[in-house]
Amino acid sequence: MFTEEIKEATLANHQQTEKILVGKMKSMRSVQDYVNILSSFYGYFGGLEQQITRYINQSNLADYEDRRKSEALADDIKALGGTVPQTATNNELPEIDNYLQAFGALYVIEGSTLGGQIISKMVQQHLPLPEGKGLSFFNGYGDDMYQRWGVFKELLNKVANTPADQQIIIAAANDTFAKFKTWLEK
Ligand code: HEM
Repeated sequence: MFTEEIKEATLANHQQTEKILVGKMKSMRSVQDYVNILSSFYGYFGGLEQQITRYINQSNLADYEDRRKSEALADDIKALGGTVPQTATNNELPEIDNYLQAFGALYVIEGSTLGGQIISKMVQQHLPLPEGKGLSFFNGYGDDMYQRWGVFKELLNKVANTPADQQIIIAAANDTFAKFKTWLEK
């Protein structure tokens, strides 16, 4: 299955991203530190989403509109009294010039809902958030997480038709991770 291949091909990048984030979460000392992490996600995921929606919408991913969006990050930032930042610029983002690259980037965004719930628990262990506010993005799809992930993976396996297309998707996913690591560390 293609989805097993892309998981394997992006594993190193996933582990490195996870390590950076766990470090950031362990050093959180205030709600403002958490708002800074949310802002960092908003800048990158928000910019990415603008590029992705040029190629992916309800016509090729039926429930696209209902999927988690960076708007949830903006809501979380505002709920905690922060200011929503600007989004990343094109040179800070991976190249997304066709629907295959868009699917590679979306794989990274949708996959991050799986780790999101772990992130949410870590944040709650480290910080007393007012009335549990500010966790809507990381809580993601809640109990529907695996169902939504299953739907996305099924489509991804159909989209990745030829070996050449598969390589384009994998390269875009790795570039999406790599540029996110750079963004997180800036
Ligand atoms: C503390 C941070 C993170 C932790 C602890 C974490 C943990 C995990 C775990 C446990 C899974 C597998 C879930 C399962 O199959 O049951 C997963 C999958 C995934 N995560 Fe993360 N994650 C983190 C951050 C991220 C971030 C920030 C991104 C994207 C920028 C990301 C992208 C992905 C992707 C694409 C998958 C799907 C892998 C696949 O099955 O193809 N993760 N993550």
